[in-house]
Amino acid sequence: MTNGDLLLKNIEESDYFPLNFDELELAVKDKIDIGPYSYVRSGAGGEETLRNNRQAFEKYAIVPRFLNDVSTIDTSIKLFGKTHPTPLLFAPVGMNKIAHEDGERAVIRAASKLDIPYIQSTVASYSMEELAAEAPNHTKWFQLYWSSNEEVAYSMVERAEKAGFEAIVLTIDTVTLGWREHDIRNQFSPLLKGFASGNYKSDPVFMAALKDDSVEAFVEAQIANIYHPQLNWAHVCELKKRTQLPVLLKGILHPEDARLAIEAGIDGIIVSNHGGRQLDGVIASLDALPAVAQEVAGRIPVIFDSGVYRGIDVLKALALGATAVAIGRPFVYGLAYAGELGVKRAIQNIYNEFEVSMKLAGVSNIAALRKLHLVKK
Ligand code: FNR
Repeated sequence: MTNGDLLLKNIEESDYFPLNFDELELAVKDKIDIGPYSYVRSGAGGEETLRNNRQAFEKYAIVPRFLNDVSTIDTSIKLFGKTHPTPLLFAPVGMNKIAHEDGERAVIRAASKLDIPYIQSTVASYSMEELAAEAPNHTKWFQLYWSSNEEVAYSMVERAEKAGFEAIVLTIDTVTLGWREHDIRNQFSPLLKGFASGNYKSDPVFMAALKDDSVEAFVEAQIANIYHPQLNWAHVCELKKRTQLPVLLKGILHPEDARLAIEAGIDGIIVSNHGGRQLDGVIASLDALPAVAQEVAGRIPVIFDSGVYRGIDVLKALALGATAVAIGRPFVYGLAYAGELGVKRAIQNIYNEFEVSMKLAGVSNIAALRKLHLVKK
């Protein structure tokens, strides 16, 4: 039985589900309000990066090999000593309650059934302890937004360790919020609406520092904590000392930063431009990948995200040097469309196309896929 069959077995029968990303995005537009919809869909500024992330994939063409016996496909990978059946991960996406009442609870249930590692965001609607209880045995990592009150950051790391999270992902590209015109126009802030409070209202250090117990004081403190322009390599080194867990940096785009990360003892990096939501006009994540992968030279895992919406995108990212890929918007749309089942279906469609594409490209495992030849058009 192939991994694809394994995944299929986990998917219950259901009515029509949009087959690809564009259809899903369109369908979700009718399901949720314009505020949350635009919050998920949009990119920063004029959305140059959002467009480039997709166009970058189309610049690469696969040169397949044939006559390779692809009757058995193995899509498994190893990360930090653990084997996973697919090279996919759930990217950290905050505030999932804007898409569906069950929010991250539904997502981690789906992730667990699909056996795909889950990365929880700092700004999740539910706390890390709640999610750990939802999927106690599933592989989960905690994404950390640095906090201007550093003790809040360390408190969250400690809680994540206790709750059974297996890695810390420090996001480095969000020292301040990107220029998001749709959200400004729609006057939509999930933070102000309380959708990002799960890990804050449950944090003893954060709560003890509040000036009073009003909603206003809570939101004010959350905003004051969440943006952290002071973040620098000294914090990264200190974080490494304070936790036993592997630490990954999310948002690396320059090979030189990858080199510095390795020098600082970092255990993995995520090549990402935050799905085009932070600095507009920045290099497409896929265009940044080959040089970063070359610099890293296999010493630590190089995870990739931003614009992975199809199975062939997964294939191309792995062929260009990614160890694994993380998926963002597709699962959020799946969640908005049909809750837990929608998350599963959105990911299953990507995975199944990936598996078919591996066979058609003539590669039967990930090691062979990494040697697949791509040409830039
Ligand atoms: C994100 N992303 C994100 N990243 C992060 O480190 N912490 C977070 O809380 C969030 N929150 C978030 C919310 C929403 C609505 C989106 C769409 C994205 C970025 C995310 O982890 C990932 O980098 C991108 O989503 C990848 O791009 P695609 O797959 O959405 O194109």
